[in-house]
Amino acid sequence: MSTQPHSIKQEVNLSIEIGGVRFANPIFVASGTFGYGSEASQFCDISALGAIVTKSVSWNPRPGNYPRRIVETASGMLNSIGLANVGVATFVDEKLPYLAEFDTKIIANIAASSIDEYCRVLEKIENSATHNLVGYEINVSCPNVKDGGLSFGTNAPMVEELTAALRRLTKKLLIVKLTPNVTSVTPFAQACEHAGADAISLINTVVGMSVDIHTRTPRLSTVTGGLSGPAIKPIALAKVYEARKATKLPIIGIGGIANASDAMEFFIVGASAVQIGTMNFVHPDAGVRVCDELITLLLQQGQTSVKSLIGTLEVPEQMKALGW
Ligand SMILES: Cc1cc2nc3c(=O)[nH]c(=O)nc-3n(C[C@H](O)[C@H](O)[C@H](O)COP(=O)(O)O)c2cc1C
Repeated sequence: MSTQPHSIKQEVNLSIEIGGVRFANPIFVASGTFGYGSEASQFCDISALGAIVTKSVSWNPRPGNYPRRIVETASGMLNSIGLANVGVATFVDEKLPYLAEFDTKIIANIAASSIDEYCRVLEKIENSATHNLVGYEINVSCPNVKDGGLSFGTNAPMVEELTAALRRLTKKLLIVKLTPNVTSVTPFAQACEHAGADAISLINTVVGMSVDIHTRTPRLSTVTGGLSGPAIKPIALAKVYEARKATKLPIIGIGGIANASDAMEFFIVGASAVQIGTMNFVHPDAGVRVCDELITLLLQQGQTSVKSLIGTLEVPEQMKALGW
């Protein structure tokens, strides 16, 4: 539960806006790390989150990859879940009605293996008319499936075509989730902007691998998987920084955020909001904790709003002169 007295909360304005949608605070939970909210609701007040991004949903239910699907690594974890999910019919009939009971905003994350499937899933969710569903996050960046996922996310013209097709189907927030597994995120951020996305979110997991030296076999059933957690925060920050320079779209920063000072780094670099992922497996109330800590940290710094921090990175003149 939130530990901040109401009066302290009122002194700090945590609200932010993305694509015309106002969020009470900028701390969201990341897709695939919070299920559909029901487990975490036993441990914390999920209404205190700025938004819940639901597990990627596809047209049909998916069992995901064979075990082993999770390996702990230094300051992080590798996963190859493979987009296990309940399928869009159950999502609409059971998961969205549950989430509609909470006073927070819901962003439905969609994964698919063709433009047509992305469109059908979005339309099915759109028709559910869930009152607190404010938009979609389009997963074009999952490294753990053979079909779809990264094959979209590493091809900028395809990202543009997909985003344009989805834009025609909804007036709700359209957020495209980008992969770090490319040399440069610039063409991808710009493709999203050209095609009419409202925002981009980054990063998804970083391709990684772990080997058992005794059996000399890969630890994950898919050989490689996606690295997440504190180990990837510097990569995520650098990608957000690059995207900030490439586009005017609002950015949602994701990657290794464990506390409010981590979140603040993303705001300074230019993110309007952040998502907490792997830390939910350590503390199911991680998002609510970070939100409370953020209030304390802002007050300590003499700030009264989170908005005033966004994009305030100072790059010293001598660094600029050297081309950085
Ligand atoms: C177990 C696990 C499952 C995930 N499943 C999804 C998913 O279904 N869709 C998606 O867009 N991202 C998924 N992600 C990626 C996270 O949403 C997030 O982008 C990534 O983990 C980086 O953030 P973090 O370091 O805070 O975890 C998953 C991550 C983990 C660890």
